[in-house]
Amino acid sequence: MNTPLENHAVAGYAPPEEMFERIADDLYQRGYSVMPAALPPALTTRLAAYAQETIDFDPAGIGRAGQFHQNEFVRTDEICWIQGTAAVTTAWLNWMDCLKVYLNKRLFLGLFSYESHFAHYPPGSFYKRHLDAFQGESNRVLSTVFYLNSDWGVFDGGELLIYPPGDQQEVVTVTPLAGTMVIFLSEEFPHEVLPAQRDRFSIAGWFRVNNSTAQRVDPPR
Ligand code: OGA
Ligand code: MN
Repeated sequence: MNTPLENHAVAGYAPPEEMFERIADDLYQRGYSVMPAALPPALTTRLAAYAQETIDFDPAGIGRAGQFHQNEFVRTDEICWIQGTAAVTTAWLNWMDCLKVYLNKRLFLGLFSYESHFAHYPPGSFYKRHLDAFQGESNRVLSTVFYLNSDWGVFDGGELLIYPPGDQQEVVTVTPLAGTMVIFLSEEFPHEVLPAQRDRFSIAGWFRVNNSTAQRVDPPR
């Protein structure tokens, strides 16, 4: 059986070890990383086309299965969970698996699984300031956001704002430009999406640790 990194090479992309190393360094030093041109451009283009042309989106909600509710005051995007049933989403999951293996090796994070969804913000949509995980309550360890918008101007809005913990540190502003990958510690960084002025596509995802016990099987989402 091939390792994920070998599969990556088989798929025609050289394993981006140097980039993984920079992401690991960023996470270790600051707890977040913003990496432009993270995926091979051909894969980014295929993901963008898939998001725009193929997917049926559903309104996004808040909370897991039992507590799920929609709240249009908090977020107005629409989403579609990724199962990896198409070649393009398999390639995406494979790339993220390579990253998981690397980060576990390098930072001993014990990341166990990865869940992700496409997101579409129609014009006027936003996602108010929030945390993706609460201390002690969740097994989401690392949040990832990957952008699919081939051009994005200063008047298009839709920036991601990341609020580093501690008063001294400046807010980080990320333009949702195709190829940019953002990764941050889920419990440490409140963040928000400013209202987008045009259609905005991305993939949001979470690396998780396994909290299952014999008594309680942790749900995949
Ligand atoms: C999220 C999220 C950020 C973005 O889906 O939880 O914070 O830039 N997304 O799309
Ligand atoms: Mn979030």
